[in-house]
Amino acid sequence: MDTYAKIFENNRQWITTKTRTDTDFFKKLAVDQNPEFLYIGCSDSRVTAEELMGAGPGDVFVHRNVGNLVPNTDLNAMCVIDYAVRVLRVKHVVVCGHYGCGGIKAAMTPSDLGILNPWLRNIRDVYRLHHAELDGITDENLRYDRLVELNVQEQCLNVIKHAIVQQRYVSEGYPVVHGWVFDMRTGLLKDLMIDFPKLLHEIQEVYNLTDQKLFGGK
Ligand code: CO
Repeated sequence: MDTYAKIFENNRQWITTKTRTDTDFFKKLAVDQNPEFLYIGCSDSRVTAEELMGAGPGDVFVHRNVGNLVPNTDLNAMCVIDYAVRVLRVKHVVVCGHYGCGGIKAAMTPSDLGILNPWLRNIRDVYRLHHAELDGITDENLRYDRLVELNVQEQCLNVIKHAIVQQRYVSEGYPVVHGWVFDMRTGLLKDLMIDFPKLLHEIQEVYNLTDQKLFGGK
């Protein structure tokens, strides 16, 4: 059987497996979704969103693109965040990067990459913001790993810049934004432990979109 036909065979086996333990599995799945997580990750085929989290259907609202980016003018990312926070009322928003990311590597390469240029420029901007730290790392692989982490951190800030994220957090105490990195070399998921309340505070000194004065900021 070729790999294409195998997909549909796998699907039939999956239905059998799911309904063996719960005959109403798909009946319940079709009713509604109520995920607690929004996951924003890289399109890389090796970094599966649900599998690495041990999550199943209905658990995670997912957005993936090259380099797990959240550009402030990207209609796709904006709509996903808005729907997840405003309508689904997710409790956690996760930006998950991964070591060995081709998008990060490409952005570290001095080359004209065509249509990828404006997209990867978001990562080059992260490099420029943190060039003092990154240029101080002489080992290229370590610098590459660090840029993966800093990119996740900056994309978390981009999530926090969204009005709906700020407003919901101020009124209801969620969503909380988290930065993760997946290590394909070991399978380990690392929480970068970003200080969300502190970052929110800093962001709101300039990007306060809550229509109210907070923390003595602008
Ligand atoms: Co990647």
